[in-house]
Amino acid sequence: MHRWSAATPANATDAGWPRALPARVYSHPELARLERERVLMPSWQIVCHVNSIPKAGDYATFDLGPESVLVLRDRDGSIRAFHNVCRHRGARLLDGAGTCPATITCPYHGWTYRHDGALIGMPVKESFPGLNRADHGLKSVRTDIAFGFVFVCLAPDSEFGLPGPCPRCGESSVRNSQPIAARKWCRSALSRRMCGMSTGR
Ligand code: FES
Repeated sequence: MHRWSAATPANATDAGWPRALPARVYSHPELARLERERVLMPSWQIVCHVNSIPKAGDYATFDLGPESVLVLRDRDGSIRAFHNVCRHRGARLLDGAGTCPATITCPYHGWTYRHDGALIGMPVKESFPGLNRADHGLKSVRTDIAFGFVFVCLAPDSEFGLPGPCPRCGESSVRNSQPIAARKWCRSALSRRMCGMSTGR
């Protein structure tokens, strides 16, 4: 069996040797841009597990190159995802993970958003005559749940998908957004194997 050593050329092509990519592939800025644009942005990226954001207002953030996304548990228990960017001057809204118990407030000039992304407050709102708050909510990002993990997809028209409903349980097992402790266990051994979790009913 061949073993890599300091003497092994990176582009060895003898039978049985893997062909290595040239080193410049890993550091070329244009290739990095293409990979982000054609591979990472259209595919689904894991942000966190649903148990990481169990309560209303709990959030986690995720950065992909220059893009930043926040996922947040709404009051109705659903999980939402938004671009982590204020609609006023584009400030980053949240960092890391934590809890926004009532609202999301921009650290720059204090614009305030509801958990569903609606703009609900602007200090000195007289300075924005004619501004329609309904047009300035946070921009949504596609989000979905699979096997208890929260995924986001930054390309709105991406054709990549996530696993569909469990064929045995019939629907929400793999897509259940509720914390695992709040679920009822699935009675189907097959479903337990496939979903690893519960029916959510
Ligand atoms: S940038 Fe957010 S309130 Fe101004």
